[in-house]
This record gives sequence, structure tokens and C-alpha cells, in this order.
Amino acid sequence: MHIVPFGVEQWMNEYETRCAHNLAETCVDSLTVDELLALAGDAARVWAEIRAMRLGYGAIEGSDRLRRAIAALYASQPPEHVLVTHGAIGANALVYAALVEPGDRVITVQPTYQQHYSIPASLGADVRILRLRPERQFLPDLDELASLVSPETKVIAINNPNNPTGALMDVGMLDAIAAMAARAGAWVLCDEVYRGLDQDGDGTTASMADRYERGISTGSMSKAFSLAGLRLGWIVATRSLLDAVAIHRDYNTISVGMVDDHLATLALEHRDAVLGRSRQITRTNLGILDAWMANQPRLGWVKPRSGTTALLQLDVPMTSRDFCVRLLEQTGVMLTPGSVMEMEGWLRMGYANHTRILREGLDRLGSFMVRV
Ligand SMILES: Cc1ncc(COP(=O)(O)O)c(C=O)c1O
Repeated sequence: MHIVPFGVEQWMNEYETRCAHNLAETCVDSLTVDELLALAGDAARVWAEIRAMRLGYGAIEGSDRLRRAIAALYASQPPEHVLVTHGAIGANALVYAALVEPGDRVITVQPTYQQHYSIPASLGADVRILRLRPERQFLPDLDELASLVSPETKVIAINNPNNPTGALMDVGMLDAIAAMAARAGAWVLCDEVYRGLDQDGDGTTASMADRYERGISTGSMSKAFSLAGLRLGWIVATRSLLDAVAIHRDYNTISVGMVDDHLATLALEHRDAVLGRSRQITRTNLGILDAWMANQPRLGWVKPRSGTTALLQLDVPMTSRDFCVRLLEQTGVMLTPGSVMEMEGWLRMGYANHTRILREGLDRLGSFMVRV
């Protein structure tokens, strides 16, 4: 199967371990196991449970306790509507493998995580791109979406909150997209890996799986829960969709790790503490970035409303990649060039790393902006 290289992942693989100040990171400052156990309490009991584990394959679709804890993140989903996967990256890949056949139309917002357009293209889909534009706060133009929806449309893929823009669709917009999909009999895949990190209110937006019978929500422990090292994600959808996915999953997953399942369950059962920490970091850090941006005449943005990333528009006569490589070499600060996500002229900054790393990185980036 031919597939184009994954731009962001290649950039990260090349430079991530070589930078001093990682402002390309999209996870909220990752937790150590000890920090997770401290947030959850009763560390001695948890260690005893892990030591006593007999390491077979475990529950194939994810343990009942884990699926109950994931289901509790949604307004009206039973545990049977949850399938555990190898990260959200595994979840998205499985959904496309199960649904998309050559010639099917797949409509995908852009910019977004590249899986959502490159995997359907590799499967032979007729991929149509719905551009998210800064003048619309990077929210989809629903009239444009309506013009792309056809009877052949199999999937409309959205990402809420959006990586890389930090845009956030409200429930009205989600319902409008679901209504368009319903008219075409299409599925809506909503990648919700950053859900729980809104800057306002209780921090959690409505989920597509709760809004539409053919709504599919993917999520994971990586971003809002600060536990990417567990490599644990999920799909929430109707049982018929999960049964179709499970056929593919049997060929490439079997099950996720039992220790990962256990630690993810623990984090989700203490989600108020884990997400409270994450929101405290993302809200503090976005405030710092906002104040810094006010003094940057050569950078523009649409201030994010959720997630962990911001897109910065670069008013410097240089490609985004040249800018990022020079920045890295001269200062040790790592950003992600817009060129790897179809956004030349822009830079992606992950602002949810440790606050000290953000402050130091912004200091260095600020000095570089004056020199460059
Ligand atoms: C929008 C989006 N979806 C999915 C993923 C994959 O996340 P994971 O496999 O770590 O859950 C990422 C990671 O950057 C992402 O940004």
C-alpha cells in the first residue's frame, strides 16, 4: 500500500531528541508514574496490583473497568460502545480501514493531523479538503462543507479541538455537521484527542459520538491526560461500527498492554485531578504566550480556544522550515514548521510543556525574532 510520508512525525523524529527547549510538543507536560500515583492516591495498593499481574494478553477489547471509565467521559455511552486501541493514531487508522473503500468520498478539514487525509487517499478515496481559514477563526465554513457533501460521501473527518489551530467547534456546529452527514448517510469521525482542555468553562466540549448515531469519537490518554507513554486510545461508536473495526483490529492489535490498561484506568478514575492539572497548565501557559505575542510584531495568530497548540503566522522572508532549522541550531528551541501540515508561512507551537520550558523557550525565540 502506497502512502505519503507523515510530515509532522518525520520532523519530530528528526529533531525531537536533539532540542533543548521543546515547543513542538503537543502533550500536556507528561506525568511520571509516581506523579500519576500521587494524583490517584494509594500508591502501595496500585504497585501491589501491578506486581501481582499475570502478563497474558489481558482483556482483548480493553478491561471492563477501563471501558467503563472511558464511557464515563461521554454523556450517553455504555461500555459496549468503547473499543480500546493503540493510541488515537491506532483508533483513527482502524476506523478508516474499516470504512473506506476506493471511490468513497472522504471530506477532511485541513489543517489537521495528517492521518485524516493521507490514509483515506492511500485507500483510494476521493478526498476533498475543507480548508480552515484564519479569517473564520479556523472554523469550518458550513456552506462550503455542504457543497462538498455528495451521495458518495462515506466519512466527514473533523478534529475538535483542532490540532494545530486550537480552534473549538461548539455543539451547534457539531450538530450542523451531523445533520449534513445524516442527509448523505455518512459517518462523522471526530478526532477528540485534545478534548478536556478548553480554555473556558469546565473545559470539556460535547462529543460527536453523543450527538449523532453515525458519530465516531476517537480519543486517548496522550494529550489531555499527559500519559502518551501508555500508548492507549479508544474508539467510541455504535456496536455495529465497532464490530466492523474489530475485524481489522484482530489483525494488528490483539490487545493493548495490561499495565497500560491498568494505569489508564487509574488516571481516568481520577480524571478530575488529572484534567484539573492539565487545564491549570494550559490556561497558565496560554496566558504567558498571549502576553508574549502582544510584543511580537512579526508574528500573528488566532488565539487558541482549546487544546495545546497555536499556529503563529510568520512575517519573515524565509520558509517555515528554514526558520525552524535556523532557530533550532542557534537557540535549541524547537517549533514545527507549517510546511509539514500544509500551512506554509505558519509555525506550530505546543505551549503545554512545563511552564519553565515555555518561558525559557519564549525568551530565546523573542531574541531570535529580533535578530532574524
Ligand atoms: C489530532 C491528533 N490525533 C491523534 C494523535 C495521535 O495521538 P496518540 O496516538 O498519541 O493518542 C495526535 C498526536 O499528535 C493528534 O494530534
